[in-house]
Amino acid sequence: MESQKNYKNFWNEKASTPTGAFIAVDGSTNEETARLTGRYSARQVSLALDLQPGDRVLELGCGVGRIGREIAPRVAHWEGCDISSNMLGVARQRLAGLPNTGFTELHRSSLQPLADASFDKAYCVAVFIHMDKEDFYLYLEDMARVLKPGGLFYFDVWNMASAVGWRRYALEINQYRTADPAQRKDVARNQFSSPEEVRVMLDRAGFDLVLELADSPWVQAIGMRRGGGDLVARRAQAQRDAARIAYTPLWTELFDGLLDVVTGKCEPSSMWKVLADDARGEEIPMFRAWYHGLWKVNENAWGPAPN
Ligand SMILES: C[S@@+](CC[C@H](N)C(=O)[O-])C[C@H]1O[C@@H](n2cnc3c(N)ncnc32)[C@H](O)[C@@H]1O
Repeated sequence: MESQKNYKNFWNEKASTPTGAFIAVDGSTNEETARLTGRYSARQVSLALDLQPGDRVLELGCGVGRIGREIAPRVAHWEGCDISSNMLGVARQRLAGLPNTGFTELHRSSLQPLADASFDKAYCVAVFIHMDKEDFYLYLEDMARVLKPGGLFYFDVWNMASAVGWRRYALEINQYRTADPAQRKDVARNQFSSPEEVRVMLDRAGFDLVLELADSPWVQAIGMRRGGGDLVARRAQAQRDAARIAYTPLWTELFDGLLDVVTGKCEPSSMWKVLADDARGEEIPMFRAWYHGLWKVNENAWGPAPN
């Protein structure tokens, strides 16, 4: 298939309509849900990067600007870059009212259009999971180039070392049991990493590790570009904020519940009941909105979605 040949084709096809773009970025089926999940991710990013009003911030793989829309008002400049012009088109529209934003289309795994040492901070959420490890590394190397010495970079990858992360990986492995060997290498297929692998990659690319969190299906890492900055102070601050940067145990439990539904281990309605009690945490209303949208697009298989 043409769409499987390169990242640009793949993601442009996914984002050929605005609704398709929303679903492709994080499964959000509408603006309201994308705002909820965007705010959650933006809180993690803001704390991880210790964002300041004077910061110039880069987002790699910004998609529809789900996170950027929340981050831009807090910083001096927000730049979103992406391989997909269709994604950038939606992001431009969503962030049209924010004058301190810029958009850069990428053409390969390189930040070549961006100048050396031109950003204070950068982040990349749910993007490296969709590319070959070599491209992941090339981006890390280039990220070290575009960040100022001492600049911070926050990103995540799927975590095969967590129990629930492995359960998610098993879904991919199972596809490989029966897939036609000639067709199975979808360029953007989900890839899984381990905390150790992330540490090796960061080190080789020129970053010191500030914080790594791996008690969820995600490895979340903060690196500091070598050559400047106070690593000891950065580490201390990140440790203080770690619980609010991390995906919480409740997030992991809800994601596990979702895997139960997807694998047929429980009924969609059972998960809906789990999502009734807002008192358990902010993740409940966020997952409820997200899950409701997912149910609506799966009504053929799951039956009518609740009102
Ligand atoms: C799952 S979406 C996540 C979007 C956004 N980070 C968010 O969390 O809302 C992945 C995004 O990465 C972009 N992307 C995928 N492969 C890429 C690559 N090799 N280089 C740059 N961007 C890429 C896609 O176009 C898409 O917008």
